[in-house]
Amino acid sequence: MDIDSSMNRKQDLYTLLKSQHEAEVKEMNHYMTVLSRMNNGIIKNYVHKLLDDGLRHIEYISTLMSSIEGASSSLNLTKQGIVKSIDEEKESRDLLLKCVSLADDVETKSLLKSIIVDEEHHIKILEHIEELVSSSGK
Ligand SMILES: [Fe+2]
Repeated sequence: MDIDSSMNRKQDLYTLLKSQHEAEVKEMNHYMTVLSRMNNGIIKNYVHKLLDDGLRHIEYISTLMSSIEGASSSLNLTKQGIVKSIDEEKESRDLLLKCVSLADDVETKSLLKSIIVDEEHHIKILEHIEELVSSSGK
C-alpha cells in the first residue's frame, strides 16, 4: 500500500472514531438522564453497567484517536489541564454550596452535601495528580 492511501485510511479511521466517540457521549448522556427517573433497582443496575461500558469505550476510542494524532495533542494530562480541572471541581463545589443554602428540606440538603464531599475528594485527588505530574518532570 502506498503512503497516500495509508494516510487516507488513517484519516477515515480517525473520522469514524470521532463519530463513535460523539455517539458514546450522547448515549451516556441519555442514560444519565433516564437514570434518575427509574425506580426499579435491577434496571438501574443494568443502566449503570451500560454507563460503565460507555466510559470504558470512550477511553479506548480516545486512546486510538490520540495515537493517530501523534504525541503532540495526546497529552491532556498537562499541568495546565489539571489546574483547569481543579478549578472546575472547585466551581462545582461552590455552586453546590449555593444550592445547599437555597434548599429547604433536610433530605435535599444532605444529598447535595454528599456530592460536595465527593467534589472535595476530587479536588484532593487532582491536586495529588498535579504533584505526581510535576515531580515526574512533565
Ligand atoms: Fe467532581
